[in-house]
Amino acid sequence: MGSLVPVNGATTQDSVKPITPEEIRSEFSHHDPTVARINNGSFGCGPASIVAAQQRHQLLFLRQPDYFYFNILKPSIFETRRLIQTLINADHPDEVSVVDNATTADAIVLQHTTWSFFSSNFQPGDAVIMLHYAYGAVKKSVHAYISRAGGHVIEVHLPFPVKSSSDIIFEFQKALQKGKTNGRKIRLAVIDHITSMPCVIIPVKELVRMCREEGVDKIFIDGAHAIGNVDLDMKDIGADFYTSNLRKWLFCPPSAAFLYCKMSEESSDLHHPVVSHEYGNGLAMESAWIGTRDYSSQLVLPEVMEFLNRFEGGIDGIMQRNHEAVLAGCEHMMSSLIYNAVLGDPEVEGISLFTRHTEFFGYKLPGKTIKFDFRLDSPLTKAQPDMIQSHRRYGLHTTPRNIEFEI
Ligand SMILES: Cc1ncc(COP(=O)(O)O)c(C=O)c1O
Repeated sequence: MGSLVPVNGATTQDSVKPITPEEIRSEFSHHDPTVARINNGSFGCGPASIVAAQQRHQLLFLRQPDYFYFNILKPSIFETRRLIQTLINADHPDEVSVVDNATTADAIVLQHTTWSFFSSNFQPGDAVIMLHYAYGAVKKSVHAYISRAGGHVIEVHLPFPVKSSSDIIFEFQKALQKGKTNGRKIRLAVIDHITSMPCVIIPVKELVRMCREEGVDKIFIDGAHAIGNVDLDMKDIGADFYTSNLRKWLFCPPSAAFLYCKMSEESSDLHHPVVSHEYGNGLAMESAWIGTRDYSSQLVLPEVMEFLNRFEGGIDGIMQRNHEAVLAGCEHMMSSLIYNAVLGDPEVEGISLFTRHTEFFGYKLPGKTIKFDFRLDSPLTKAQPDMIQSHRRYGLHTTPRNIEFEI
């Protein structure tokens, strides 16, 4: 994250007391100690000090709701937007709206595209392009809005495993060319920054440039997993719209995300799907009041920045250590036959991903077929407490069977 200097990173470390391992354990002591949640990406994890900050905001609201509404809420959300603007290198806080989650951001962008069909700016058959690996809910949104409005949806198929950025760029280019046959216009590209399944970093900057060259009207990057995970620079990426969840890798509680909309003539026609008092005052203002509700999760960003600063190197340091931990974890799993067996089970939703990592990283196991008995009461399972954990986590005990695989 290039421009974190004022609020984050090594420059502020001198004045901040570095977090200790005991404090880290205490920050997450409300987590179930019997489960190692390696899937942080789905929901994120709220540290205790941030949850406490959130509760302070909730109590402030309950103490005097009118005062909170008239004097605190707007400036506090503005502060969140300003911090996000710095984090993502946007030009202006007005380009940043705070929304509940990436799904809401999708709805805002897709609703905008849909109106262009209804107002005959777009013709039936004009297209929206997205990756085949797009998040399931996003795909459903695209179909719910665009197909119903008479638009055509193009899915870009990517090879599996994805071995290089150039594979992605090649396939995207091919799909764009094919999509444009018969003079079809591509009105919107929806591109993941980090795909959910399989987890691949997409070369968004290159794809944005390609979309511009090929005349795609608008480009929306779904960076649901991106902030706190990879460097973000809106000016460098160059998309029209960009969303990321703050709750996944940035330690905000649910529900908090941002939608960046590059300043343009059309940006005043973007609206929150929940219409309330602020309608017509710009998307950032509309999103800051969508009716009476709990906004506290969107107000804790200043405390989150303080929390991040307690780690060596701030968010950049966390990203680096996460990366190293993932590689070390992969090494560990790849060298464990038990995990290769469990994770290689294609019937266990979600974890076949790791088998794919095996392919991706090119690990080869010597070729010999053996059988493991994975039932909860099998001697092998009993000998491996971590396997019992996996069984419980993934409900394997409900599907007793032997699994045969190659080693
Ligand atoms: C790539 C991607 N897009 C969108 C979403 C939806 O996020 P949310 O449930 O916060 O709306 C997710 C959720 O994990 C995701 O992985």
